[in-house]
Amino acid sequence: MNNESLEQQNEHAKKTKRYVAISLILMFMLSVYVAWTMSQNYRKEESQERYRLTSLYKESNKNEYTYDQSQGRELYQKLCMECHGDQGQGKPNRYPPLLNSQIVGGNFQIPLRIILHGQVGPIMRDDIQYNDKMPGFKKIHPQDIAHILNYIRSEFTQIQESIHPVEVIKTQVKTIDRKNAYTEEELNQIKE
Ligand code: HEC
Repeated sequence: MNNESLEQQNEHAKKTKRYVAISLILMFMLSVYVAWTMSQNYRKEESQERYRLTSLYKESNKNEYTYDQSQGRELYQKLCMECHGDQGQGKPNRYPPLLNSQIVGGNFQIPLRIILHGQVGPIMRDDIQYNDKMPGFKKIHPQDIAHILNYIRSEFTQIQESIHPVEVIKTQVKTIDRKNAYTEEELNQIKE
């Protein structure tokens, strides 16, 4: 009787071990499956984005582009003014000014990347600290992004150069895997 119950206990322990092993294997397989599905979705998103940009590139390459100031203003008022102010003056301690900004008037790749993917603080401008987060606008049409960029550069700084939408698309392709807003440190490393 005693022996029998010992055997039963052994049997029981073996079964439990087996269940644990099987559950671990199943959990492992499930997590591999979830990771795989996520990476597939990610790839799908990226290839859809690549496709969208390729067609936009073809379209922009054959179309003439001329900077349209009134469209630039309209887009600025719709998408940027709320934070940066109608004259690009910003809000102290909250949103940095674009008026006379060295970033806006410098290498256009920097403000372009900020418009596409956003920026996250902290940054110091004229002895004032800003530590907020700007959203990116990569989903809007590259021509509209070019209008906005050309608008802020010509209205708030002295730059009259007109950036073509093709340049916007090229940078979008280069930064296609970007998911987060830029920090100042990352922006400082951009050399082109
Ligand atoms: C929700 C508010 C918000 C909106 C809308 C917004 N921004 Fe910003 N922007 C910010 C913040 C906040 C920063 C600074 C982030 C930080 O603290 O690093 C910033 C930074 C910038 C900078 C860098 C300025 C510098 O001197 O470093 C540029 C250029 C810029 N924004 C342009 C734009 C343009 C163009 C638009 C419209 C397409 C826009 N922003 C819309 C909040 C906003």
